Amino acid sequence: MKKNYEERIRTLLSKMTLEEKIGQLQQCGPSLVGAFDVSFDELLNMMFDGRITREEFDRLMGTAEQDFHEDDLRAGKIGSYNGIGDSAAANRLQKIAVEETRLGIPLLFGYDVIHGFRTVTPIPLAESCAWEPKLWEKTGRVAAKEATAAGVHLTFAPMVDVAKDARWGRVSEGAGEDVLLNADYGAAKVKGFQGDDLTKEDAMAACLKHFAAYGAGEAGRDYNRVDLSVQRLWEEYMPAYKACIDAGARAVMPAFNDINGVPCTVNSRLLRDVLREKWGFNGLVISDSNAIAECVSHGIAKDKRDAAKQALLAGMDMDMSSNSYVECLKELVESGEVPERVLDGAVENVLRIKFELGLFDHPYQTNEERESVCMLTEESRAIAREAAVKSLVLLKNENHILPLKSDAKIGIFGSLAADKGQMTGAWAIGARPEDCVSMVEACQERGISCQYSEDGKDMLKIAASSDVLIAAVGEMKEESGEAASRADITLNREHLALVRDLLATGKPVVVVLFNGRPLAIPELAEHVPAILEAWHPGVEAGPAILDVLFGDVNPSGKLTTTFPAATGQCPMYYAHINTGRPGGKSKFTSKYLDAPVEPVYPFGYGLSYTTFAYGELKVEKKEDAVWVSVSVSNTGERDGEETVQCYVQHVAAKRVRPVRQLKGYEKVGLKAGETKEAGFMIPFAELSYYDWDMNKIPCEGVLRVYVGGDSRAELMEEVVL
Ligand code: BGC
Repeated sequence: MKKNYEERIRTLLSKMTLEEKIGQLQQCGPSLVGAFDVSFDELLNMMFDGRITREEFDRLMGTAEQDFHEDDLRAGKIGSYNGIGDSAAANRLQKIAVEETRLGIPLLFGYDVIHGFRTVTPIPLAESCAWEPKLWEKTGRVAAKEATAAGVHLTFAPMVDVAKDARWGRVSEGAGEDVLLNADYGAAKVKGFQGDDLTKEDAMAACLKHFAAYGAGEAGRDYNRVDLSVQRLWEEYMPAYKACIDAGARAVMPAFNDINGVPCTVNSRLLRDVLREKWGFNGLVISDSNAIAECVSHGIAKDKRDAAKQALLAGMDMDMSSNSYVECLKELVESGEVPERVLDGAVENVLRIKFELGLFDHPYQTNEERESVCMLTEESRAIAREAAVKSLVLLKNENHILPLKSDAKIGIFGSLAADKGQMTGAWAIGARPEDCVSMVEACQERGISCQYSEDGKDMLKIAASSDVLIAAVGEMKEESGEAASRADITLNREHLALVRDLLATGKPVVVVLFNGRPLAIPELAEHVPAILEAWHPGVEAGPAILDVLFGDVNPSGKLTTTFPAATGQCPMYYAHINTGRPGGKSKFTSKYLDAPVEPVYPFGYGLSYTTFAYGELKVEKKEDAVWVSVSVSNTGERDGEETVQCYVQHVAAKRVRPVRQLKGYEKVGLKAGETKEAGFMIPFAELSYYDWDMNKIPCEGVLRVYVGGDSRAELMEEVVL
């Protein structure tokens, strides 16, 4: 039963001084003090732009010390820390908060646990390709068990920013381009992170982000403006955030971007009217890093003080890293510019999540012993392997090159086949390269006959004595994630050259792609006989890839993001509208002169080592829902899993509607030769949409229902609503 802490919150609040209240709204991270005479950020930049090597960076960082601002903590000026994933440090600071501050209010420790803590699972975009909410919940649970053992109470995840633009680097952090998948993924992660009782020591509060529509930034550039009709905002983006709130997420992080001119950080329509009033959320709202101060750069606040005032009034409870609240709120409250009751409301939200996590009763929820036994257990590794295997998407398999025979002699090329640190993806701060198993290592472990060349040296020699050549190409992990937008999403020159050279040997070539976003790979799709999309698969990268390459597991992943043919097509997504002149042969149609309008690989697409066929599709209108059923058969010789997808198109509506919208999906396991029924129930409410005046109106008239194995499915029945 949900406990009610309101009485305790009010009692505590009544004892707090103004400074103590403001302190509760302050989240900071440890500062790094080192033997380098530039700031940490500058040091990071130096590594990224090549002024220092990764090794030099690591060496300097090794000399750095962390400053936890303990005097401020003692004075009650800090309510929360970000980025401390270490039980000893967390407990030491917690002890100061509990024993040495006047009121003994415990600290809240936040951390970015995006796809695993030590047991790094595939990047979210990859994991979403499993189309399996139960798996998403399970990996969330593993992450929570480990992170809480390291002292973490709150994760800044899930990210459910629908992302339709492959140029945006953070495509990697969410469940792709579809709103239903993001909603399901987010809800499952919230359940996994939080468990069934937030007071349990292995439950971690979830913070959905980035509220709202961060993925819709203009030109795919990170942090960029979002100019979006309210109809699209509510139809294509908001349901994913709402699903996380409904699943019980206890925190929300507003996005860096503005929406239609108002930065989310100071957007009271979003933070108060929608989140608090409409959705009834009473958890914690925490800013993105430094976002309050950045309202000055946005051109919405004249200085930090103004930004602090606007943010608090808009409903931002906690300030991550910008120090705007600690520096400015006292004066703002004392001058009456910010009513104290508004401040009190924010403090209550901070105290509430601390009570809900059980921190007042058990401030020390872990210790070094628990931390040492919880990490990277056999069970967690097994789940990471399952997730990695299910995330892999077989894009091409001409002449059944795959699966490889168990005694096949293979030549492997490209640094990504051996670079363990690259397997973790962009957002795995707790990751350790040595925990990862690379493809080359996995081959050695399996006793596979394999020769490896990092850069293509000895290619001809290796090719001559191999049956098949494997190219590990794609993106380094730094090429996706935050602040990693790309204006060109094709395969880089060296990787392309490597693949061309391998093809020129005349041996069969398999490309294994490691990347954090869709890549425009028309040349590969045309000339390479087999392509396996591996993404950044996490600690079990190598074994999972070999499981699929050698056929121990039949691949079942399906893309949750469209693979464009050219960067210029971006944003490209399956749920587009038709226009009045859909692409065709004649000149005056909606198309490009120099690129197709079709993608290379569509949303929902992915091959298996077996084949599936769909039988009769039945679509029926019942009292308040459309009922869909279809039979699906495994027509090949291997057992396999097919993700049956159900799309709708509203043919003549009051606003133009997408050519297809995903309304249901079901993963069906089928033995060779077996047939099963898949069924979907689509409530009318889920077919309704907004008119020009933002009235929600029902779907009326002809509805086309498509069912099949990807978003191009042709099996269709109409129903009149
Ligand atoms: C990111 C957030 C993240 C935060 C804290 C920001 O730069 O946008 O997603 O949670 O940093 O690390």
